[in-house]
Amino acid sequence: MIYLDNAATSFPKPPEVIRAVSGAMEKIGANPGRSGHRLSLAAGRVVWNCREELARMLDVPNPENIVFGCNCTDALNLGIYGSVSPGDHVVTTMLEHNSVLRPINGMVHRGEITWTLLAPDPSGVVTAEQVAAVITPLTRLVVINHASNVVGLAQPVADIARVTRRAGVLLLVDAAQSLGVLPVRPLEMGADMVAFPGHKGLLGPYGTGALWIRSGLDLTPLKEGGTGSSSESMLQPDEMPEALESGTLNMAGIAGLMVGTRYVRIRRQEIYEHEKSLSDAMWEGLRNIHGVSVLTGRPPDVGVVSFNVGAFTSGEVANKLDTRFEIATRGGLHCAPAIHTHLGTLDRGAVRASVGHFNTKSDVDALLAAVSEIAREVS
Ligand SMILES: Cc1ncc(COP(=O)(O)O)c(C=O)c1O
Repeated sequence: MIYLDNAATSFPKPPEVIRAVSGAMEKIGANPGRSGHRLSLAAGRVVWNCREELARMLDVPNPENIVFGCNCTDALNLGIYGSVSPGDHVVTTMLEHNSVLRPINGMVHRGEITWTLLAPDPSGVVTAEQVAAVITPLTRLVVINHASNVVGLAQPVADIARVTRRAGVLLLVDAAQSLGVLPVRPLEMGADMVAFPGHKGLLGPYGTGALWIRSGLDLTPLKEGGTGSSSESMLQPDEMPEALESGTLNMAGIAGLMVGTRYVRIRRQEIYEHEKSLSDAMWEGLRNIHGVSVLTGRPPDVGVVSFNVGAFTSGEVANKLDTRFEIATRGGLHCAPAIHTHLGTLDRGAVRASVGHFNTKSDVDALLAAVSEIAREVS
């Protein structure tokens, strides 16, 4: 099987990540930060070491400002619900994933907040000027994805951050498709929060993700409960990360994430160049196949290319690629309905091919040959 669905989750994982997960389960297996025995302390060290490794990856000084969750959705929900209150206005783009659109739209439907949804300009980005034009005195939060999981284009987050900073508005960046590939440095970028999964570009296991929060920004916790600290109090502690991180953590997943993050951190530029060359070849090659329409007019910034073939639905093409050619891609809407509405592909969706660190040029060549054959069935 040729795996071209890395935007959903990266596969395969480096063997050292798998060894770290099983090693943590076999040799440590205790609840981190709860008990005083040496296994619990060892588990606590694993969690702390991962926080430090993530802080190095993000180039931020405070590992305690990184709050673990199960995935990027968890992190985005914490950033959104933790910062927005009734009466607030929120700005997002049509490029966002349902993990942003649904919490915000849910609050809108309950009559709690107002919302402006910005369409990208013809080049595929939402500009800082567009954001500046819709900020009002009630605006509390802007949420923007760093790179789109449908069109693979990067957004000008640093420019947008200059606008939000000036206006005193919070900026939450969804780095689901960028971390591990593009540089993601929240302080340099000017973000207030950055949400990311552990299981995509960081090559970690499922069930991992985190939210980085700027020092001094207090979020309302989504979960309250046991933290292993200040247990005499029946109130949630104020200290980070416990203030926002209750319940037993996915210690084995976090052990794998630490190793995955280190693996990626020391190879980030090489990973970027490799994925960029593969996605450029994919974009160029698909555009040259008669009957294929590629969703973007320029090559992607991360390893994601979406396309359609003739009048086939995206599901039909993805299914042919799977069953006849043993190539894994993703049809449908990629949990991002607004951008498909904008691009006119809400009905048929698009086939998304997304490369990762372990793909090769021959994987791309196999995809192009398979799509050419499917396209010939149309004419
Ligand atoms: C841009 C974007 N944001 C958020 C998510 C949600 O990530 P997770 O599956 O880790 O919750 C995804 C997943 O595909 C994504 O592509």
